[in-house]
Amino acid sequence: MQRLFTGLQPSGALHIGNYFAALKPMIELSQEFPDSMLMVADYHALTSLKDAAELRANIIEVGRDFLAAGVDPQTSIIFKQSDVPDHTELAWIFQTLVSVPFLQQAHAYKDKVAKGLEANAGLFAYPMLMAADILLYDSDIVPVGADQRQHVEYAREAAAKFNHAYGETFKEPRERILDAIATVPGTDGKKMSKSYGNTIPLFGSKDEIAKAVMSIVTDSSGDKPENVYAIHKLFRHGESLENLYAEHKGSYKTLKEALIEDIDALVAPMRARHEAITDEEVKLILVKGGERARERAQTKMAAVREVIGVAI
Ligand code: TYM
Repeated sequence: MQRLFTGLQPSGALHIGNYFAALKPMIELSQEFPDSMLMVADYHALTSLKDAAELRANIIEVGRDFLAAGVDPQTSIIFKQSDVPDHTELAWIFQTLVSVPFLQQAHAYKDKVAKGLEANAGLFAYPMLMAADILLYDSDIVPVGADQRQHVEYAREAAAKFNHAYGETFKEPRERILDAIATVPGTDGKKMSKSYGNTIPLFGSKDEIAKAVMSIVTDSSGDKPENVYAIHKLFRHGESLENLYAEHKGSYKTLKEALIEDIDALVAPMRARHEAITDEEVKLILVKGGERARERAQTKMAAVREVIGVAI
């Protein structure tokens, strides 16, 4: 039995890039792999978010998003990272195994430094916390977008370094990145990202979706509006998509209106569920999930403490 694991940061409202790369595959594959785990990466978010009220609200919101999108808490464990202290403990152990130059190559850190921004030590060590998230549960498959590929490679490297130093303890996980959704573009054609302000919110109202779609930057040089099409192909496929673009060639407004309808058709039922899920329900599911995750993590950490020599 293969175990799936993925995490999302509670750093703002989820967007359609998060959904297609991480949430949708988790939902689809959890039928086949009922032992999957979905984590709210709240300690990762702390590297950029310093407002307690906002973080608290975001954690609940992301938990609600998971449920509304269709993750079943019976088949998948939904939990938050900070409820399982073994993650930060294992991250520390991995930090003692990897070198500073190795961590300096991490994109998230490099990008921040390249922009002249100060990176905190947490951001620097970020890949080792993510390695701990994944490896603690002997995860096999990690569904993510292309921007997380390097982080999963880092997790493999942490596993290999640990196994080399202390004997075979961790599995080397594989990322699962589908070509079609590897990098979902935003309204400006760049990667969709909360920090670029170019997102289409997953749980936005129809008006919010319409506003985002209407703001998609169009380029009239080719025979179709590439930025609109790139997003549209996530929602409509094959002939139906091609026919639509052939029929309305040059009519960008009509194509955008069709995109709004197609997004809304997917989102409307999720939005309805979203509105019905209370904060209390989300908290309860996170607490229960945290207990189940902690049980698994503690067994693994007992073995880790033993092999590294701190259990006496
Ligand atoms: P985060 O919170 O930035 O993003 C969550 C997931 O959404 C994917 N994603 C995208 N995919 C395609 N196109 C886009 N425009 C796009 N934007 C975001 C991300 O690749 C990710 O899969 N470090 C992780 C969270 C994390 C994690 C983990 C993931 C913490 N521990 C363990 C997997 C396993 C992050 O910041 O994702």
